[in-house]
Amino acid sequence: MTQTPIPLGRRGRHVLVTGGHGFIGSHLVEALAAAGWRITVLDPADPPPDLAVPAGAVRHVRADVRDAGLVRREITADTSLIVHLSSLVGVDQYLYDPLDVIDIAVMGTRAVLDATRDAGARLVLASTSEVYGRNPNVPWAEDSDRVLGPTTADRWSYSTSKATAEHMTFAHARRYGTRVTALRYFNVYGPRQRPAYVVSNTVHRLLRGDAPLLYDGGEQTRCFTYVRDTIAATLAVAASPETEGMVLNVGSERETTVAEIVRAVAAAVGSTVEPVRVNTGAAFGAVYEDIPRRVPDTSRIAGLLGWRATTTVEQGLAETVAWARANDWWTGQSAGERNERGAAR
Ligand SMILES: NC(=O)c1ccc[n+]([C@@H]2O[C@H](COP(=O)([O-])OP(=O)(O)OC[C@H]3O[C@@H](n4cnc5c(N)ncnc54)[C@H](O)[C@@H]3O)[C@@H](O)[C@H]2O)c1
Repeated sequence: MTQTPIPLGRRGRHVLVTGGHGFIGSHLVEALAAAGWRITVLDPADPPPDLAVPAGAVRHVRADVRDAGLVRREITADTSLIVHLSSLVGVDQYLYDPLDVIDIAVMGTRAVLDATRDAGARLVLASTSEVYGRNPNVPWAEDSDRVLGPTTADRWSYSTSKATAEHMTFAHARRYGTRVTALRYFNVYGPRQRPAYVVSNTVHRLLRGDAPLLYDGGEQTRCFTYVRDTIAATLAVAASPETEGMVLNVGSERETTVAEIVRAVAAAVGSTVEPVRVNTGAAFGAVYEDIPRRVPDTSRIAGLLGWRATTTVEQGLAETVAWARANDWWTGQSAGERNERGAAR
């Protein structure tokens, strides 16, 4: 797919990226910096140590996206684009800190929407395949039903709060004409991802000499999407005024079982260590529930923009493992008890 330049509109070559020090955000910031954008990242976390950007290209603002006044101040006269990625992400987070998961998704998105409207800028915001819950009818098109469990299970707090942020987005666009597109990302993986997800956790464990974990037999399926493809979709959407007011699935069409991906990671690492089986029912109790299959219908974004995920799992894993071997700061960090609890996703 050829990359369309992002239109500058009446404004300038400045972009605000919330959550830009995270996994997806750091790759987006590198891509934008390489394309000559000046970037402000709003994120309470530090940037990754290997962030590769030209000196002076990025202004780092350690702040909370719920600070509406601050968000407004960081959007300047030459800000053409805002990409809103801030969230608490991962099973460990939504099982153990659901209140902040909800608060950041809802209040943070409201602050960004209002500031975008007032500035007349363009907004792309990150939502998630989790909004579909456990709808058994895959593949999921953008207007497929949401099928969720009860509110007494914290497991659904992330899905519900991201969906609330989407509702707010569509309502904002209708009432104020806010120029916004929401993207539902599906299982992104790649360098710098916190070792709390099935690919990153398996790479992390194998490189540290630990056996990988396999949850509930590993027959659940996901469509693992390499981060470079996710970034290409995000930039293509930012460049496409015709996607304003829409929500789009962004994910690979290749469905893989968790057992297969664990085996593929082991092959990429060159390991023959057998996985340790974990029963989530025994480990987490009733607060947790897995999604059996998660598959996107990507015909909307393919039809509009010609985007498809093109990186094979083998290629993406080879790049991820090569990066991990070269980055001790990542392999040296602890996955942590809470993170390991999130490893199956
Ligand atoms: N990684 C995936 O597979 C995936 C899948 C679906 C959707 N998403 C969405 O994509 C976005 C980015 O996800 P990611 O994988 O890069 O996660 P991440 O955890 O690596 O990045 C999220 C960033 O948001 C920041 N953040 C958290 N609370 C904040 C706050 N109050 N104010 C400002 N920043 C805050 C964090 O410090 C972090 O740097 C999220 O919105 C997530 O819901 C990710």
